[in-house]
Amino acid sequence: MVIFKSTQDIIEYISAEKGKGVKYGFVPTMGALHEGHLSLIARVRNEGQAVICSIFVNPTQFNDKKDLEKYPITTDADIELLVKAGCDVLFLPGVEEIYPGGEQQTRSYEFGYLDTILEGAKRPGHFKGVGQVVGRLLDIVQPDTLYLGQKDYQQCMVLTKLLELTGRDKMKLVICPTTREADGLAMSSRNRRLTEPQRIIAGVIYQCLVSIQTKQEGGSFAIVKKECEELLAAKGFATEYVALADARDLTLLDEYNREIPMVALIAAKIGEIRLIDNILL
Ligand code: PAF
Repeated sequence: MVIFKSTQDIIEYISAEKGKGVKYGFVPTMGALHEGHLSLIARVRNEGQAVICSIFVNPTQFNDKKDLEKYPITTDADIELLVKAGCDVLFLPGVEEIYPGGEQQTRSYEFGYLDTILEGAKRPGHFKGVGQVVGRLLDIVQPDTLYLGQKDYQQCMVLTKLLELTGRDKMKLVICPTTREADGLAMSSRNRRLTEPQRIIAGVIYQCLVSIQTKQEGGSFAIVKKECEELLAAKGFATEYVALADARDLTLLDEYNREIPMVALIAAKIGEIRLIDNILL
């Protein structure tokens, strides 16, 4: 695996490799890698592309600076995992490489409705930061395909919009299924901050999503939502939302509508740790 810290160096390398006909699949990350990230890398390889991964903890997407300070940094372990997983190129830039003229100077994008609901409403400015960094990373890396995890469903929709806004119609976006622990907990870099008792109950979020999925037949979402909120509260979670939406554009729904593809989404905090997850219906 070749590692680049400099933007100029990676641009030159990728451009030379692409000149030889190499196709690249790109997996952007903030490090603290886990099985979920590795599954994206395996997917790129299975689809016959060379893998570029980036590790950059993007300050502009943290609306809560305490969250940024506590974000786990495990670069040496990440590099080991990436080598084992067969990653070809790692981009490991510092802030000055991504935001050379300062954060304000970097192009940012408007995501409209998507930025006003759910994660957008709870984390003001978050998607602006995600759009800013992924826009910049794509400019540098110029991959053929972008691989994202379904766990961040709204982020996937925001980045689909980013590709549209930036005229990247030729770039393919592959959304990969969420990787889960045995009890259903979605893998996330934040999970390593859970205490043992918190970890034991964290699987309840997935149980709630499964019950929303199961009860769609003949059930009322309003009732299931209330049951989920009560269960989460009983387990000690502070629930931010239990929502149902049109899976195509995230229009929020009050009730099940089996004529359209739906997605159920939950965000809840246990202690200081904020967890999100979703399921397609
Ligand atoms: O999902 C993430 O880890 C981040 O939001 C991303 C896409 C790497 C941008 O910083």
